[in-house]
Amino acid sequence: MDQSIQIVREKSFDLVQNLIQIISLKDKNTLEHSNRVYSLTREWATYMRSRWSWTDLDVSALELAALLHDVGKVGVLDEILQKPGALTPVERDHLEQHSEIGYQMIRDFPGISDIAIGVRHHHERWDGRGYPLGLKDTKIPTISRIINIVDAFDAITSDRPYRKGRSQNEAILELQKEAGRQFDPALVNEFIGFLHARNT
Ligand SMILES: [Fe+2]
Repeated sequence: MDQSIQIVREKSFDLVQNLIQIISLKDKNTLEHSNRVYSLTREWATYMRSRWSWTDLDVSALELAALLHDVGKVGVLDEILQKPGALTPVERDHLEQHSEIGYQMIRDFPGISDIAIGVRHHHERWDGRGYPLGLKDTKIPTISRIINIVDAFDAITSDRPYRKGRSQNEAILELQKEAGRQFDPALVNEFIGFLHARNT
């Protein structure tokens, strides 16, 4: 492991925590979602790291990106973030700016440029129909492909003001349905294996 990058990254972690507090002032739901995605990604990374030969640095990059993935929502209008119903196409375009805004916010932090790139691409899709760049399959950074899965799992299973969260089994079916379309199919299998191991 590169100790110097790790030390710089640990300092950036303090900055990141402050950034996350800014989100909490604007949007409590995003803060809670970010914290859940962080915790679950951290658990999954611990489970996967030996089989994927990940270093401490890889895992810390993934964890920070999971925590920060929606930080760009601080640049999204409140009435769009809080809107309970469906968004208009114009509102959706505005909301979709958040991954690029997040990237711009953190890309110059020392030691975390790979994390900024992970944040930028967390809404790309395996089939190339995502945003902001429409990257396809393995062109999408691994960090982003992982966060995309955990992000979706949390969105499906969490309660919203206008609906109850669905069960873990329903979320698994949804992930399987979208494997190869929204998600990296190999990572979906890994994630489901992790969830099953976690429940036993
Ligand atoms: Fe997002």
